[in-house]
Amino acid sequence: MNFEFTEEQLMIRDAAKDFAERELLGDVIERDAKAIFPTEHVKKLAELGFFGIMVDPKYDGSGMDTVSYVLAMEEISKIDASVSVIMSVCNSLVNWGIEHYGTEMQKEKYLKPLARGEKIGAFLLSEPEAGSDATSQRTTAEDKGDYYLMNGTKNWITNANSASTYIVIAQTDKEKGHKGINAFIVEKDSEGITLGVHEDKMGMRSSDTHSVMFNDVKVPKENRIGEDGFGFKFAMKILDGGRLGIASQALGIAAGALERAIDYAKERKAFGKVIAKHQAIAFKISDMAVKVENARNLCLKAAWLKDNNKPYGMATAMAKQYCADIAMEVTTEAVQIHGGYGYVKEYHVERLMREAKLTQIYEGTSEIQKIVISRNLLR
Ligand code: CAA
Repeated sequence: MNFEFTEEQLMIRDAAKDFAERELLGDVIERDAKAIFPTEHVKKLAELGFFGIMVDPKYDGSGMDTVSYVLAMEEISKIDASVSVIMSVCNSLVNWGIEHYGTEMQKEKYLKPLARGEKIGAFLLSEPEAGSDATSQRTTAEDKGDYYLMNGTKNWITNANSASTYIVIAQTDKEKGHKGINAFIVEKDSEGITLGVHEDKMGMRSSDTHSVMFNDVKVPKENRIGEDGFGFKFAMKILDGGRLGIASQALGIAAGALERAIDYAKERKAFGKVIAKHQAIAFKISDMAVKVENARNLCLKAAWLKDNNKPYGMATAMAKQYCADIAMEVTTEAVQIHGGYGYVKEYHVERLMREAKLTQIYEGTSEIQKIVISRNLLR
């Protein structure tokens, strides 16, 4: 086993860390409080190649491996998970889906501008009554010969407003169950698409989340991804990789909270000494560090499997479940270590705790990951 990173991987990690500290930290509290979308920050991150980080240079991407992606996601999420979720949805859901299953036309037209970071993508699977139960799609795409006619509503869509390119999962033949589901590339400015209100979220408040309504939207035939009926499996395959993006986001949130707790414990004095010298605090820090290290190892193992073309669906589900759950635990302890200061915005840990909660919910709840893991083990 080789636990050493390559020079290239370290370079990516350092670039992400530097970017997060230089560009994101300064106004992260204000953007979160006022739910301001990080337009300029995303633009600069895209210029550095982070929006097409794993895309083949042939399609204008940076051609890095999944390990590099995990390292970058951790560093950015330590400071601002609103930015890292925008990056994660673009990279591991939208770009990956089009690059691996799209036609050459789809890659030229849609993947290239996404990989260059000129356009943002969104993945539209969840519906008001199809969140965890993803086969129960109510959005329909009726085959009209030259085009599909799309109707329905999608919910909780990250990047709904900022994106230009949507991947939409819809039912084309109800009788066929999950085999009657297809995936389509839909341009956001197509006639008949409207957005619901900006969701006023508990955390990751500066990423934009909306519902999206489709009313007789014409989708060109050539925008269907893959064979007829491939849409559900396509969505599952996308989520297998997407979960690693959120796992590494949760890892970053936990690691960021741990770093802040360590810094605070070494400065804050109580009962005549810095609180780090009290075992009650030192043991908490130790427990948090073990969890963060385990989380990191799960993410990197899953990334390594993916990079080496080995099955990785169970590994990413394990990473997602564990990282999200420990992110909640570690950030809660970080708030506790900070005492009253942890409960106010200035010290960041209350925000990290709010962000951690979402990682247990989106791209499959922790319970969904247990379904995926147990089915892999028991089938
Ligand atoms: N890869 C390939 N195929 C897969 C697969 C995978 N990982 N998982 C399932 N399939 C196939 C199965 O083999 C089966 O095909 P066959 O009938 O041909 O054998 C078919 O798909 C149906 O599978 P299941 O019977 O297992 O389906 P299910 O209804 O029991 O659901 C589930 C399984 C894992 C619970 C799934 O519904 C699921 O993942 N739900 C959660 C959805 C989710 O994560 N939503 C998040 C939205 S995205 C988001 O949050 C993005 C964002 O904005 C941040």
